[in-house]
Amino acid sequence: MLIDCSAHPSFDGHDEVHRFEDRSVGLLAFVAIHRKGALGVAGGGCRMWPYASEEAALRDVLRLSTDMTYKFALAGLGAGGAKCVVVGDPNTDKNAALLKKVGEAIHSLRGRFVAGGDVGIHSEDLKVIAQETPYVELGSHGRDTVSEATAAGVYWAIIAALGQGPSGQALHDKRIAVQGLGKVGGRVAELLARDGASLLVADVDRGKAERMGEQLGARVVSPTDVLECEVDVFSPCALGDVLTEENAQNLRCRIIAGSANNQLESRRVLAVFGEKNITYVPDFVANLGGTLAGARPSACQDAATILALTREVYDITRRVLERAERGAITTNQAAEELVRTKMQRTFGRGQVFVSWFHVLWRVPSFARTALRLRTWSEELRGRWLRRSPEAYLSERNV
Ligand code: NAI
Repeated sequence: MLIDCSAHPSFDGHDEVHRFEDRSVGLLAFVAIHRKGALGVAGGGCRMWPYASEEAALRDVLRLSTDMTYKFALAGLGAGGAKCVVVGDPNTDKNAALLKKVGEAIHSLRGRFVAGGDVGIHSEDLKVIAQETPYVELGSHGRDTVSEATAAGVYWAIIAALGQGPSGQALHDKRIAVQGLGKVGGRVAELLARDGASLLVADVDRGKAERMGEQLGARVVSPTDVLECEVDVFSPCALGDVLTEENAQNLRCRIIAGSANNQLESRRVLAVFGEKNITYVPDFVANLGGTLAGARPSACQDAATILALTREVYDITRRVLERAERGAITTNQAAEELVRTKMQRTFGRGQVFVSWFHVLWRVPSFARTALRLRTWSEELRGRWLRRSPEAYLSERNV
């Protein structure tokens, strides 16, 4: 059901906002399409989280979809941004029936929204969703390449913010804290450990943190203490709203760069970063890697190609930090300036731009639909052929 949220503080002229409810399976979900872009298509992740209220879910979906448009613009792609949030605890409420309803909801938008994974929705869940709709980005080469590429992008953002060159990184003298060790944070920690960084890791799932700590030789800290550790880089890779005016006062890092969307509770936190001389890489810059990879799934063959494909995050981060320094503006202002310039270039001129992204994104979907149709037709044919003449005649009462 299309809903009107034009009065909502997080509304940013969104193209469409939908609410889906199906009590038979306990589904309550929102899909926000911020911009369909010049191509009539918007992409973004699907998140499942136990939101405290419908209002909290709506706020999240509105903000997350806006960020997705920024990311597509920065990546120079012609698609717009969107997001889906499902209200519920992924550990206890997620089941096949619910995921299939999510698939039906996505399908009802007829390809205006193409979904990927996000917090609480993993690649195996996307496969269930994809039973109901072809409008799902399933990754490629049998892996969750989008999360892996997001992590690679965060890694590049950290390297750029540390002022290191894009090749031959040596992080032996760097202390880095990673908060949230899921699909993205876990991989970020692996990449940093590979380069010799001294790691501190935290997750609300203590068992996960301990396993990772042992595997990577990292020190495990609590999810709250991680904010106050004395480190070179703090990498928030869990959830949004993690940095507030209050807790920012206690930060003891030089740089913040992580994958979590909407890390700042409000823009006022940026002033605290300014006072404390903390370099902040805006979230929609640091977590751009997945968007870059999502547009070229077949190129994501292995970890090395994913790192190469996401190198652009290094360049964009440097550009944003340099522009902020030159203009004495915040890094968010510098990044938004870049978004505007890129959007004008991509979406402008009467929306006549036809991007390869559109083709690349849609082709797998069309291919999957075609395959499914073929399977159905083969099944039907099989049923006819398998039927004996006797069965056929008796059914027809001949
Ligand atoms: P995930 O669900 O795989 O992992 C999140 C991890 O954070 C879990 O291990 C969870 O236990 C932990 N966590 C939750 N709250 C925490 C807290 N307060 N302190 C410490 N740990 C906490 O999610 P995923 O996919 O790794 O995403 C992480 C962040 O990156 C999210 O904010 C997501 O929106 C963002 N992101 C993810 C992308 C992707 O491709 N997966 C793409 C772009 C952004």
